[in-house]
This record gives sequence, C-alpha cells and structure tokens, in this order.
Amino acid sequence: MTIRLGDTAPDFTAQTTAGELKFHEWLGDSWAILFSHPKDYTPVCTTELGEVARLEPEFAKRNVKVVGLSVDPLEDHMGWIGDIAETQGTALNFPLIADPDRTISNLYDMIHENADNTLTVRSVFIIGPDKKVKLTLTYPASTGRNFDEILRVIDSLQLTAKHSVATPVNWKHGERVIIVPSLSDEQARAKFGEFEAVKPYLRYTDDPSA
Ligand code: BEZ
Repeated sequence: MTIRLGDTAPDFTAQTTAGELKFHEWLGDSWAILFSHPKDYTPVCTTELGEVARLEPEFAKRNVKVVGLSVDPLEDHMGWIGDIAETQGTALNFPLIADPDRTISNLYDMIHENADNTLTVRSVFIIGPDKKVKLTLTYPASTGRNFDEILRVIDSLQLTAKHSVATPVNWKHGERVIIVPSLSDEQARAKFGEFEAVKPYLRYTDDPSA
C-alpha cells in the first residue's frame, strides 16, 4: 500500500518495547512520528535511536509522540536497548515496534524490494492530530536521518495549521514567513498588520508564533 500526503494513517496493533500499542488510540490528539530502521544491532540505527531519545524534550514541547519500527523480534529490541543506552548515553524513552511478520512494514510500504527485499528502508511519517499523514520521507539504509530537519518540518506544519502562512526555503522557527497567496493584501493587513511585498505573490511577515 502506498501512503500519500492527506491519507489517514492506517491503524494497527503492535508489540513494542513498551507493551502492546493500538496506534490510533495511542495517537490520541497528539502529533506523531512513525519511523522505521532496517535492523537492530547496526551502527547507523544505534546513533539514530539515541538521538531521537535525546530529543524527547523537543518532541514533548511540540506535543509529538514518537514510535520506531524494525522487522526484528522484540527479544532483539530488548537486548539492543542496552547497547543504545551504553553507547549513546540515553535510555530509549519511546516505543520500538517489533514487526517480524512485516505486517506494519507492508501496510506503510516501508519495504522497497529493489533496495532490500526483507528489511525496511528508513521511512518517516509525520502524522497530525487529525490522523492524516503530513509528511513522508524515505532515506537509504546507509544514511542516518537529520532529526533537526524533522523537528523543523513539525514547526512549519504546526505554524501553517494555525496561521495563513507558508514557510520559505531553509526557514527556522522565529524567521520571517510567507503570506499564503489565497489571502488578499487587505486580508493580510487585517491579520498581520504591515508586511513586505517583494512581488504581489511573494509577501513576507514576521513569524506569528515567535
Ligand atoms: C545501519 O544502521 O548501520 C545500517 C543498516 C543497514 C545497512 C547499512 C547500515
């Protein structure tokens, strides 16, 4: 199954390092990140899971829950957690799904046969409180993801969900944003006050959340 932006994230029940997880129920009204990694006891994955654990306060601040997945069994996950704590200096503080029969991996199209026909690629799904998919990313097994970029996308998504703005290239929280073209100048002025119109279609205003 291919998952596309705007689709409802498929529901599932999974065994995880934190017990059974019913996905939609667990999501509640939070944002969420579901991400897969190819294999337990591998170096890139070890660094990624450590970093995601370290970023827990950043996710909490944004009302984001995080869940990882690999096709290895729960016993392997449990053993590997010790190595992550030892080598990365952080305890795993989010659930890690064990998907040995690949049910969830297939549901989310996380196995790309021409890359590897049994292991998951590095997929990322950002899911909104409405349970719709807001972002999909696919990285190769050999490239660790940049979770600062994923936090940056969440900042942008949360901002644009609230205000009639979009975020420009390389935008970061606090920087100027773009007024969406569907707002007239009059409506923009009423919402944001004065703004800079570089072109009629390229109008900047301050980050309304900063
Ligand atoms: C890793 O996580 O280190 C890794 C996993 C699969 C292939 C290559 C690297």
